[in-house]
Amino acid sequence: NIANVHIAISEVFRFSSYYGNHMVLQKAPAKAVVWGFGQTGATVVVSLSGPHKVSAHSTAVINGIWRTTLKPVEAGGPYKLTASQSTTNSSITLTDVLFGDTWLCSGQSNMAFTVGQVINATKELALASKFPDVRIFQAALEQSDEELIDLARVEVPWSQPTAELLGGKKFSHFSAVCWLFGRYLYKTLKYPIGLVHSSWGGTPVEAWSSPRALHKCGLVNSILPVDTIMLENASAKWDSSVLWNAMIHPLLNMTITGAIWYQGEANTNYNRDKYNCTFPVMIDDWRMAFHEGSDGQTPLDFPFGFVQLSTCRENDTQDGFREIRWHQTADYGYAPNERMKNTFMAVAIDVPDDRSPWGSIHPEDKQDVAYRLVLGARAVAYGEKNVSFQGPFPTRAMLKQDFICIVFNQGINAIADDGFFEICCSEDKTCESDDKWLPVVIVKHGINYVHVSTPKCPAADITAVRYLWTDWPCKFKACPIYSSDGLLPAPPFILAITNQ
Ligand SMILES: *[C@@H]1O[C@H](CO)[C@@H](O)[C@H](O)[C@H]1NC(C)=O
Ligand SMILES: *[C@@H]1O[C@H](CO)[C@@H](O)[C@H](O)[C@H]1NC(C)=O
Ligand SMILES: *[C@@H]1O[C@H](CO)[C@@H](O)[C@H](O)[C@H]1NC(C)=O
Ligand SMILES: *[C@@H]1O[C@H](CO)[C@@H](O)[C@H](O)[C@H]1NC(C)=O
Ligand SMILES: *[C@@H]1O[C@H](CO)[C@@H](O)[C@H](O)[C@H]1NC(C)=O
Ligand SMILES: *[C@@H]1O[C@H](CO)[C@@H](O)[C@H](O)[C@H]1NC(C)=O
Ligand SMILES: *[C@@H]1O[C@H](CO)[C@@H](O)[C@H](O)[C@H]1NC(C)=O
Repeated sequence: NIANVHIAISEVFRFSSYYGNHMVLQKAPAKAVVWGFGQTGATVVVSLSGPHKVSAHSTAVINGIWRTTLKPVEAGGPYKLTASQSTTNSSITLTDVLFGDTWLCSGQSNMAFTVGQVINATKELALASKFPDVRIFQAALEQSDEELIDLARVEVPWSQPTAELLGGKKFSHFSAVCWLFGRYLYKTLKYPIGLVHSSWGGTPVEAWSSPRALHKCGLVNSILPVDTIMLENASAKWDSSVLWNAMIHPLLNMTITGAIWYQGEANTNYNRDKYNCTFPVMIDDWRMAFHEGSDGQTPLDFPFGFVQLSTCRENDTQDGFREIRWHQTADYGYAPNERMKNTFMAVAIDVPDDRSPWGSIHPEDKQDVAYRLVLGARAVAYGEKNVSFQGPFPTRAMLKQDFICIVFNQGINAIADDGFFEICCSEDKTCESDDKWLPVVIVKHGINYVHVSTPKCPAADITAVRYLWTDWPCKFKACPIYSSDGLLPAPPFILAITNQ
C-alpha cells in the first residue's frame, strides 16, 4: 500500500521545502547551498543580509530549478535570506536565519521516540525554550518508489524549540535523541545547531538505502515480508529504498556537518547476516550522495554517529540483538575502525528498561545515549583531543596456567566479578554454535586487565572469549566493565585466545 508521491515541478517560484524562517544554514568554512523552484529562463537573485555580511548571488533557473552556493558565513545571526525572481518581479524573504552546524538525525523508533516520552520528560520539556539557538526541522513520513527532488511534506517546519513541538505526538513529532544531542552539543559549541529529523518507526536499513547501495551487498529490490518485521508497526510493509527516495534524497542538496543514526532492531530478524555490509555501505553511500548533492560542500567523509542497540528481551540469545550490535561495527566491535572511518558509537547495552511504558525495546533513558553520542561527536567530528568517548576494548586474550588474561586498551573499572564472559571450547576451532560457549567468572582484575577462570575444557581447545553476548546481559548501568572514570561501558566483543 505504498503511496507514490511524484512531485511535478510546477515552476511556481519558491524555496525548496527544506528552507524556512528560523532555519540554521551550515556555517563557515563550508558554504551553504540554497535552492528552489522558479520559471525556467528567469534569473533569481539570492541575497543575504545580517550582522556580519551582505551578499548577493545571481543564478539562472534551469529546468524549473535555481540553486546557488553562498559565501562562507561565520556562526551567528539572525540573517534575512531573500530570493527574487526577475520575470515575475517577486521575492520571498526568510527571516531569523542562523548559521551554525546542521546535523541529520535518522533511524527507526528509538530515534523517532520524542522528548515527551523520555524519563524526566517534564523537566526536559521545560528546558526547551532555554535553547532558542538549537533549531528543529522534521520531514513528514512519506514513501516513494522513485527518488524525490523535494520533500513531499514537512512535519515540523524550521522552528525554535518549544515544549509543544518536542513533546508532541508519540513517536512522530520530534526526536529525543536528536534534540538532546543538539542541546548537549550546543553547550560545548555555544553557537547555533540545526537539527534535521527524518526517521520512521519499525523500518529496516534497506528502506533507507539506495538501490546502488543495496546492490553492493547483493540485495536487489526485495520486498520485505510483513511477518519478518517485528516491532511497533507490524502492519507496515517496506519496499527497499522507499525512505531513501522520499525522506533522504530530497535533503542531499543541503550542506550538513554530519549525521546520527539509531536503527537496527528491524534488522534483527531481517537480512541480519548482511547488516555488516548494508549498514557500512549505506553510510558510504549517504556520504557520497550528500557530497555530490552539495557540490562538494558536505565533506565526503562527514562524521556519522550511531547508537549500538540497547536491549529488548531478558535472557534472550536468539533474537538477533547480539549479532546486529556486532554488525553495526562492521564486526570490529568498536567505532571508528578501518572499515568505518570517522564514525562514532554510543553503547547502550547497559541502559535496559523493563518498565518502559513504550515497551522494553524503547528504553526511556535517552539522555545517556545522547550524552555518549555527543562525546563521540566532540572527539571525532570536532577533533577535541581530550574527550574519551569509547569504553575499554580488549587488545589481547591469553591463556595462562589456570586463567585467561584479557588486556584492555585503557584503564578499567570492574564493578562486578561475575557475568557474561564465555569461553569457546572447540576441538575444531569453530565457535558458531552456542553450546560451544561455556560461562566463566572474573577471578581477578587490575588496572587494565581481567583474569577469567578457565572452563572445563582441554587447553588445546580453548579458542575464543566473548563478552555480553546476549540480548540483555546487565542491570541498569551495572555491566561488569567500564572505563576507569566509570562512565563508558566496554561494548560486547568476541576475541581469539592466544597461547602465551
Ligand atoms: C518590481 O518591483 C519593484 C519593487 O517592488 C517596483 O518598484 C517595480 O515597479 C516592479 N516592476 C515591475 C515591472 O512590476
Ligand atoms: C532524572 O531526574 C532525576 C532527579 O533529578 C535524576 O537523578 C536523574 O539522573 C534523571 N535521569 C536522567 C536520565 O536524566
Ligand atoms: C505504521 O504504518 C502505517 C502504514 O504504513 C503508517 O500509516 C503509520 O504512520 C505507521 N505508524 C508509525 C508509528 O510509524
Ligand atoms: C558478515 O557476517 C556474516 C555472518 O556472520 C559473515 O558470514 C560475513 O563474512 C560477514 N561479512 C563481512 C563483510 O564482514
Ligand atoms: C541535488 O543533487 C543531486 C545529486 O548531485 C543532483 O542530481 C540534483 O540535480 C540536485 N538538485 C538540485 C535541486 O540541485
Ligand atoms: C533471566 O534470568 C535470570 C537468572 O537466571 C532470572 O532471575 C530472571 O528471572 C530471568 N528473566 C526473565 C525475564 O526470564
Ligand atoms: C585530559 O583529561 C585528563 C583527565 O580528565 C586530565 O587529567 C588532563 O589534565 C587533561 N589534559 C589536557 C591537555 O586537557
